[in-house]
Amino acid sequence: MKTATSKSTRTTGVEDSALNELFLDELKDIFWAEKHLAKALPKMIKGATSEELKTAIENHLQETENHVSRLENVFESIGEKAVAVKCEAMAGLLKEAEELLTETEKGTLTRDVAIISAAQKVEHYEIASYGTMKTLATVLGYTEAADLLDATLQEEKNADSLLTQIAEGSVNGQAKSEKK
Ligand SMILES: [Fe+2]
Repeated sequence: MKTATSKSTRTTGVEDSALNELFLDELKDIFWAEKHLAKALPKMIKGATSEELKTAIENHLQETENHVSRLENVFESIGEKAVAVKCEAMAGLLKEAEELLTETEKGTLTRDVAIISAAQKVEHYEIASYGTMKTLATVLGYTEAADLLDATLQEEKNADSLLTQIAEGSVNGQAKSEKK
């Protein structure tokens, strides 16, 4: 019943298009990705050495939880049920992040460099995904969804820039003198 009601509120006339299906698939993919990232970030926080990096990832964990609920709003705004479908790319990136934690020494800045590297790969995947989804939402006439996706896109870009600042501002330079 909910679906029928929601569908009647949709006025874009694109519901049956292949592009709409592609857009929905991308949404389901990133919904899974964000949920799993939220579970993985605490391990990165625990593994980080510098307080600056810990704080940055802690803040991004809060943002990530917000990205999950914002995606629920995106689904709702287009009259679709929020469904998560396994994102192989994010699963691979998070697996690699875990491996980096086991391959680097606890309490070192080299480990922070590894964490930043893994986190930035995740951010870049998300930036590409949200950029595409925002554009598709606009093309499909989903104005509210486009705005919501853009809000997350900006936060992902900021998180990525902050990681670059931390790496270039302190972590990389300090890691340079650590012996293997
Ligand atoms: Fe996110």
